Amino acid sequence: MHLSDDYADLSRQAAAAFADVARAKPDATVILATGNTPIGMYDELTRLVHAGTVDLSRLRVFQLDEYVGIAPDDRRALYGWMDRAALAPWGVPAEQVVRLPSRSDDFPAAIAAYEAAIAAAGGIDLCILGLGPNGHIGFNEPPADRDAPTRLIDLTPESIASNAPYWGGIDQVPTKAITAGMRVLLASRRIFLLVSGGAKRAILHEALHGPVTSQVPASYLQSAAGVEVFADRAAAGA
Ligand code: GLP
Repeated sequence: MHLSDDYADLSRQAAAAFADVARAKPDATVILATGNTPIGMYDELTRLVHAGTVDLSRLRVFQLDEYVGIAPDDRRALYGWMDRAALAPWGVPAEQVVRLPSRSDDFPAAIAAYEAAIAAAGGIDLCILGLGPNGHIGFNEPPADRDAPTRLIDLTPESIASNAPYWGGIDQVPTKAITAGMRVLLASRRIFLLVSGGAKRAILHEALHGPVTSQVPASYLQSAAGVEVFADRAAAGA
């Protein structure tokens, strides 16, 4: 575990490790989470880009999850959040990004195309994850098995409540989503799980030290290779 004193320290440590990945392989394939937790790391990476110490513009990016049923340009679209937080400041062109659709006439085909694009790219080098309050990663809501594919899901009341602050209330949160599957995330060569704050302390402990179970999807990280946890003291309870 990379233990940090506070959120700023966590963001710097995770950014330094991310930048090392990009320096070793400038066109690395990455999955980028949205949510609040990785924003400090993305901002720190933007600072490194501006300082000229790393180039992130060649990364090949795969979306982690997306709300379903909203327009692609809806203010709540997670693609837009990822674009504002990372892609635009890093100069990653849209053609290097594989999206998950918020709308589709044929979701099964879109899902197959997403997983095929990852396979064609040779798999994922680095997957950035946050931790949901119910132990979800991406939008793999419990129960989710380790081999759960990319798919449509109904958001749990807990996840809807946790997403409400992003958009100004529970009634603003879409109720369906599409998520990269557990099997996609767990097959990544490296996984950074970023966790901050005392509110995540109990679920982080369960994920790392509790039983490996579909009821806590993040617990499958215990048996995956290449996992690195970046947590601050409040989340780690240390
Ligand atoms: C959200 C997202 C996840 C995110 C997690 C934690 O619902 N689907 O991708 O990592 O929950 O969010 P936050 O970092 O804001 O606590």
